[in-house]
Amino acid sequence: MVNVLENRIQLANLPTPIQKLERLSELFGGPEIYIKRDDLTGIGFSGNKIRKLEYCAYAARERGCDLLITCGGIQSNHARATAAVAAKLGMKCHLVLNGNPPEIAEGNHFLDMMFETDISYVSNCELKDLEKEILRIAETSKNKGYKPYMVPLGASDATGSLGYIRAVKEMKKQFSDMGFIPDHIISAAGSGGTMSGLTAGKALFDLSSKITGFSVAFERVSLDTKIKGVIREIQEKYFPEIILDLADFDIIDSYVGEGYTKTDLKQLELIKKVAGLEAILLDPTYTGKAMFGLSREIEKGTFRKGEKVLFLHTGGVFGLFPYREMLQKEYKLIG
Ligand SMILES: Cc1ncc(COP(=O)(O)O)c(C=O)c1O
Repeated sequence: MVNVLENRIQLANLPTPIQKLERLSELFGGPEIYIKRDDLTGIGFSGNKIRKLEYCAYAARERGCDLLITCGGIQSNHARATAAVAAKLGMKCHLVLNGNPPEIAEGNHFLDMMFETDISYVSNCELKDLEKEILRIAETSKNKGYKPYMVPLGASDATGSLGYIRAVKEMKKQFSDMGFIPDHIISAAGSGGTMSGLTAGKALFDLSSKITGFSVAFERVSLDTKIKGVIREIQEKYFPEIILDLADFDIIDSYVGEGYTKTDLKQLELIKKVAGLEAILLDPTYTGKAMFGLSREIEKGTFRKGEKVLFLHTGGVFGLFPYREMLQKEYKLIG
């Protein structure tokens, strides 16, 4: 059988390093904390998305497509990563962003423009409206002679998730070199593709670490259903040998706070603390929430002294910059 994990366009700098966070482990006073630096995958600092897009871009090329269309919020890391990948591969890109364009583009939105992507804005809509707009753009682009490939939200389908199945294979080799297997692997969970890939990879490569996702937006039940659906799709499409019972994971949804992209003083304080202690930059929407959740769950005893926890840094640093005013003025955390 063809090894589907090789059906990728190599874009990311892999393997990403695993580092011990000595000072943060000491601060939390619980398990030893390690970090997998997927914020260093490259291609415009595109974090976890590059692993997924390596497979989506391959599928697009295989089908002869020359235009990537996808959607997200105005500050979507995924949209910006798709724009970066399209630029790198000489493909066209069209983003459908949820919201009204601000007068001055910030963070990821600004980078979308740097990568010379086309952007359509749909204000205050639901996912189904964005998807409808994607279909409309796909149709009009065909009339202009393009062959579009539609990348789903977060590249979180079976194809994109292959990126994190491959990441498990990569980590298993690193764990073997390091001489230990972490008890837990922790990640921020948004559209769920990272979790689907990690969990399918765990089952496929017989990894003992427990996988826990900190939801940044959705309730546990709906995210759980989405992730299991994608794992089933991975099994049907690529890896029938995956035994679903072994594809075990946990979702914690207690740290979503006021909602997706919403943060608060406590989370921002921790983001600043981590930067000051470890020179690791987290963002308020994804990695900051997951790290905050980890710190609280250590206090509760979910993750204990004597255990080893690997925190997957999924990137997203540009999401920090739109909060600089809040950090400086409202919370007086800086300056
Ligand atoms: C920085 C960052 N971390 C984590 C995630 C969550 O990954 P997933 O959508 O695969 O759950 C995202 C998704 O957009 C992200 O941009």
